[in-house]
Amino acid sequence: MAQAVRFYETGGPEVLRFEEVEVGEPGPGQVLLRHVAVGLNYADTYFRNGTYPIPLPNGMGVEAAGVVQAVGEGVSNVAVGDRVTYTGFLNTLGAYSTERLISAAPLIKLPDTIAFETAAAMTMRGLTSAYLMRRIHDFKAGDTILLHAAAGGVGLIVSQWAKLLGLNVIGTVSSDAKAEVARAHGCDHVINYSHEDVAKRVRELTDGVGVNVVFDSVGKNTFNASLDSLKRRGLLVCVGTASGPIPPFDPVLLAMKGSLYITRPALADYIADPAEKAELAGELFDHVGSGRIKIEINQHYALQDAVQAHHDLESRKTTGSSIFVI
Ligand SMILES: NC(=O)c1ccc[n+]([C@@H]2O[C@H](COP(=O)([O-])OP(=O)(O)OC[C@H]3O[C@@H](n4cnc5c(N)ncnc54)[C@H](OP(=O)(O)O)[C@@H]3O)[C@@H](O)[C@H]2O)c1
Repeated sequence: MAQAVRFYETGGPEVLRFEEVEVGEPGPGQVLLRHVAVGLNYADTYFRNGTYPIPLPNGMGVEAAGVVQAVGEGVSNVAVGDRVTYTGFLNTLGAYSTERLISAAPLIKLPDTIAFETAAAMTMRGLTSAYLMRRIHDFKAGDTILLHAAAGGVGLIVSQWAKLLGLNVIGTVSSDAKAEVARAHGCDHVINYSHEDVAKRVRELTDGVGVNVVFDSVGKNTFNASLDSLKRRGLLVCVGTASGPIPPFDPVLLAMKGSLYITRPALADYIADPAEKAELAGELFDHVGSGRIKIEINQHYALQDAVQAHHDLESRKTTGSSIFVI
């Protein structure tokens, strides 16, 4: 019997249940996949607490890596025995499982240079970093970015990638220990937003000018500081809302603060085109396979410990990526 983490109501981590499940045979366009490692992403908490509404009961998790066991009619992009990884949104829900049926469409073949654990730790976080670095803005060497939650899963990948592009990176973190981690992965300056004034410090570090782009995955608590840290006509990228949703605001605020731009992107829209997805995945695999970008898996869990894993992530105990090892 396969095992999976499912939930029947929205709420805190304790709504997650570890259960035996029937998997069955793959239908047309589907694959039976045995998981080796599963990614734990902050987005999982948005599904669990109802920020992203979905029909219940449902599976949990959107990212995993494993081996194809069987393929249904019409599947041509992968074959039995292939090592694969995937990430998605509603189309891949149910990743917290030992094996599962899944549409073949989101599957990406893994090169030999990428271990299953690494893949599960970076398919979502790494592809997100790839589009943030390569599609959101036409970066020039010497540009400065402000990167919130710089010691987190996305944070550690973006900071390393930004240095490869020659950018100056100002990171924010909530503790001195996290500041060390952020510095070790490329941040030129680190601001501890638990006790420092972010916008004031950014002005000091940029000779009063401000940064070209802010990557803000924290949301409610950092929104104003993010706007106040931008240079004239700078871009705020609202990557996520770990501290809660951003309250409604009047767009005239953007004019008053220097004709700023703002975007709230979603990974799905940057990997919808298979050719673009392959290109971004190729760049990511190349950087990671050659060691230019290190994927730090700092938390390993068993699927049975999903409740604890969600607690750790939401209570800001983690750095880098977290995975479940099957
Ligand atoms: N838009 C997209 O396409 C996309 C795709 C993937 C991920 N994301 C977003 O990217 C962000 C990072 O994801 P991740 O999986 O790598 O998570 P993560 O950064 O490893 O964890 C979240 C971090 O947010 C920070 N944080 C600040 N305020 C917080 C609060 N009130 N509660 C909890 N955490 C808080 C914490 O770092 P400190 O302790 O240092 O503050 C925490 O470690 C998330 O917001 C996620 O939703 C967006």
